[in-house]
Amino acid sequence: MTGRRLEGKVALITGATGGIGAATVELFAQEGARLVITDVAREPLQKLARRIEADGAEVATALLDVSSAREWEEVTALLDVSSAREWEEVTALVRDRFGVLDVLVNLAGILDWPGIEDTREEVWDRVIDVNQKGTWLGMRAAMPLLRASGNASVINTSSVLGLVGSGGAAAYQASKGAVRLLSKTAAVEYARQGVRVNSIHPGVVTTPMIQDLLDEQGDQQPDIQRTPMRRAGRADEVARAILFLASDDSSFVTGSELVVDGGLTAH
Ligand SMILES: NC(=O)c1ccc[n+]([C@@H]2O[C@H](COP(=O)([O-])OP(=O)(O)OC[C@H]3O[C@@H](n4cnc5c(N)ncnc54)[C@H](O)[C@@H]3O)[C@@H](O)[C@H]2O)c1
Repeated sequence: MTGRRLEGKVALITGATGGIGAATVELFAQEGARLVITDVAREPLQKLARRIEADGAEVATALLDVSSAREWEEVTALLDVSSAREWEEVTALVRDRFGVLDVLVNLAGILDWPGIEDTREEVWDRVIDVNQKGTWLGMRAAMPLLRASGNASVINTSSVLGLVGSGGAAAYQASKGAVRLLSKTAAVEYARQGVRVNSIHPGVVTTPMIQDLLDEQGDQQPDIQRTPMRRAGRADEVARAILFLASDDSSFVTGSELVVDGGLTAH
């Protein structure tokens, strides 16, 4: 059931074509948001925009590598994002098109499984650059517009792996743990300026990010077995938690960590 809980609000979403990203975009569109959707994946971005436009949503798209992409020319060339706009260009696009920004959802992320000794240094740097630095770069670029809104909300994506150790995924865990505290310090810094900042912490959620793992192991996947609800979450279940934090329903919520994990970290 939808209730137009974002009517009139302008929302910028990164990693918008991913599993949780696309679910969030579709839900936000149903709830009346005007959207700027960004990702490094050009075709899926256009497709997603056309889909929600057909349902009456107002949407702009921008290719955006959230990381400090200039240092990653080889990678960006491989990803076909040589024309990716920098964060500043994207926030300028938001200003020109909508004049305001009320919601920033930092969803872009990458995952690497190896532990401490097996993590390659260049992979470590890339994971930190996208997940951790990308979140800071996004807040830094968007904050003038968010402050101008006076009633704004930032949702940063951490993970259950930003709360507890798993014995692996060293770079990913380090990046997601950092996103948790970066969100809290931003919440304190901007509390009196009309910008709320919270982090979300999904557990095992069926999306392309972990599809291989789920295809291989199904419900026998150890983290699903340790999840009290004994199933993976759906992307739309995370999207609805993000909607809560984006909307005025959470008007007194800032600096909090919203866990969406079927109970995985409850024991
Ligand atoms: N799926 C899970 O189980 C799970 C659990 C906890 C946290 N998360 C987090 O949720 C977020 C969304 O993940 P998802 O599960 O939808 O995965 P996904 O792989 O489907 O989506 C990730 C998206 O980020 C984009 N992306 C990757 N690098 C980028 C970059 N440098 N700049 C901009 N965009 C980039 C990808 O193109 C993709 O669209 C991620 O931050 C992820 O770490 C996911």
